[in-house]
Parts: sequence; structure tokens; C-alpha cells
Amino acid sequence: MTILVTGGAGFIGSNFIFYEREKHPEDRIVCVDKLTYAGNLSTLAPVMDDPMFRFVKADICDRKAIFALFEEERPDIVVNFAAESHVDRSIEDPGVFLETNIMGTAVMMDASRKYGVTRYHQVSTDEVYGDLPLDRPDLFFTETTPLHTSSPYSSSKAGADLLVMAYHRTFGLPVTVSRCSNNYGPYQFPEKLIPLMIANALNDKPLPVYGKGENVRDWLYVEDHCKAIDLIIREGRVGEVYNIGGHNEMANIDIVKLICRLLGKPESLITFVTDRKGHDMRYAIDPAKIHAELGWLPETMFAEGIRRTIVWYLEHREWWETIVSGEYRSYYEKMYGSR
Ligand code: NAD
Ligand code: TYD
Repeated sequence: MTILVTGGAGFIGSNFIFYEREKHPEDRIVCVDKLTYAGNLSTLAPVMDDPMFRFVKADICDRKAIFALFEEERPDIVVNFAAESHVDRSIEDPGVFLETNIMGTAVMMDASRKYGVTRYHQVSTDEVYGDLPLDRPDLFFTETTPLHTSSPYSSSKAGADLLVMAYHRTFGLPVTVSRCSNNYGPYQFPEKLIPLMIANALNDKPLPVYGKGENVRDWLYVEDHCKAIDLIIREGRVGEVYNIGGHNEMANIDIVKLICRLLGKPESLITFVTDRKGHDMRYAIDPAKIHAELGWLPETMFAEGIRRTIVWYLEHREWWETIVSGEYRSYYEKMYGSR
């Protein structure tokens, strides 16, 4: 069958494509990506010459281009990763988040309806549930936790999730939605916490921790996320939401200190900077449903995942150094210069 993957030149989408090519070599993958600042075609170099892979540069908001591609490819399954994904950028400029994350999702679903897919899968986030208090470690997000967003990013993702469920109820589109916690691993753009801290530490640059560094995230190795999505699109129940997370909560400051230790860099590089506006305190996923229904469990423990990630960034310096020296530099100046 043909799986159409949007946003496949980004962090999780590219890892998903590699996972699918390895696990299901009989399935063809068509990747659609606009190649925004976060999309990097060089990431897909290992599959570019694979006859079972095709890359198409297109914007998921471009209805004409997307419908023409569906006409040509008639995909069986659509997995929508394409999104503006960085909370800090959404605070600076919400508009493009609404365009890509909501309107782009509508275009992908309209094409999926017209050409008839067996599954439309929406890759969402635990951030749609808002945050949990630090002093209630007994609380977790379940699939029935009300949507309650904090940032323009999470609001745009929640808007898309609502639209996906509406297309299921109104038009009978065979949808699934997954809501995953924070991912880390190879090919993550160095504006996100873990790769940013690794890159800065390797360059002996300050490590900017927002607020007091107390905020807690529930970290999952990217391959475990890909495996969960693969299970959902093949065995998940239509019309269902699945939370994905590995019960691996850590405070930001502890992650940054660990990175210092693993890289042999001094903690004196850590600088506490002005907090993010509306900063969510804690995310924590209850993955009981996906475990019970699909048998999914995370396989990579954090100690191993972070070690692998650091080794990857050490061995792929040219991948992130190109990014860090490009347009990203002016972004970094703007976001951190006055903090
Ligand atoms: P990313 O920013 O690394 O990649 C996004 C990709 O989408 C890029 O290749 C970009 O070029 C492409 N893209 C952006 N706008 C597009 C458009 N209009 N048309 C076509 N392509 C476009 O993001 P990521 O971290 O890989 O996240 C992928 C998905 O997973 C997102 O939907 C995100 O909300 C979700 N998610 C991410 C995390 C995480 O920790 N990174 C956790 C849970 C869910
Ligand atoms: P991030 O990787 O942007 O993911 P998200 O905001 O979607 O969870 O940030 C993870 C956490 O790290 C979040 O609490 C904000 C914090 N953070 C910093 O302290 N410093 C930084 O430079 C960045 C990018 C994030």
C-alpha cells in the first residue's frame, strides 16, 4: 500500500519514514513537505534513491497541489506530521501556526475524503491537555482529560484535533489521533530543549534555562513514538484517540545538568533566563489505553536514549552546525539576545 506522510523532512516524520522502510519494506512512502526552516531534505538522503520512496515539495495548505497529488498517488493511509511545532515561535507569531496546523489539516482531510483513504492519522501532542500542577504527581493526562490549552501552538493543535473528530462524526472519515509527550532523538532541530543544550554545550555557549528550570516534561525516545504510530495506523480503532508516553518525567534543570555531565562540561554554563510566557508546568501521560489495546510499551529507557542521542549529535556535527550557522542564528539572537 501507499502511505502519504506529511512533514517527513522534520524530526519525527523523518524518523517515522526510516522506521517504516525498515519494518514494512513492502509499503511505498510518499513524503510531502514544504521544507520550512524546520524541514531538511538532507535528512532524507538515506531514502532518496529508494524506489519505494518519493519526495514531493508542497505546502499542505495548497489545496490544488494536495488534491493533484492524491489524484496521482491514491494513498491508502495518510499520516499528518506537518506542523509548525515550536511553542516559542508560536508566541512570537501565531498566524502561521493557525494556517498550517488547522487549515492544512482541513486540506489533508478534504483530500482524504474525496479520494477515500482507509485511514487518516493525525499526529497530535499532549500539550492539548494544558498542564498539571507540580504538587500533584498522582495526576496524569488520559484520553478523556478535557482540552485546555496554554500557547498558540497547543491551541492550534487542539483546534486540529477537534476538526479531525468532527470529520469522523460528520463525514465518516476513518480517523485516528495520537497525542504524544515530548520526543528526543536524532534529527531534532536544535531550537528544542535537548538538541539546543547539546549543541550549545559542545560549543561552550551558555545553556539558557527558562525560569527556575522546575518545569517537568515526560520524555520519549522518538523511535518509540514511531512504533506507536505504526501500531495505531495498522491496528488502532477508527475514531479513537491514543495517548503515547513512557512515564519518564524530568525537570528541565535535571536534563540540562545530565547533558553537562555526559559531555564533561561545567554546570557553570547554565544561565537562568526570563521564563516563557504562559509556561506549562508539567506534562504527564497515562499510556494505559495504547498498552491495553495495542500492547505498546516504550522500549528505550531514558539513560540509553539520551546517550544514543548525544552520540548521534557528536557524530553528525555537520547536520546541526549547518542549521546553527544559517537563518537560525538571527532567530537565536532575537529569542535569547535580550532574555
Ligand atoms: P518539526 O518542526 O521538526 O517538523 C515539521 C515538518 O513539517 C518540517 O519538515 C516542515 O518543513 C514541515 N512543514 C511545516 N509546515 C508545513 C506545511 N505547511 N506544509 C508541508 N510541510 C510543512 O516537527 P516535529 O517535532 O517533527 O513534530 C512533528 C509532529 O509531531 C507535529 O505535528 C507536532 O505537533 C507533533 N508532536 C511533536 C512532539 C515533539 O516533541 N517534537 C511531541 C508530540 C507531538
Ligand atoms: P521545548 O523543547 O521547546 O518543548 P515544549 O515547550 O514543547 O515542551 O521545551 C521543553 C522545556 O524546556 C520547556 O519547559 C521549555 C524549556 N526550555 C528551556 O528552559 N530553555 C530553552 O532554551 C528551550 C528551548 C526550552
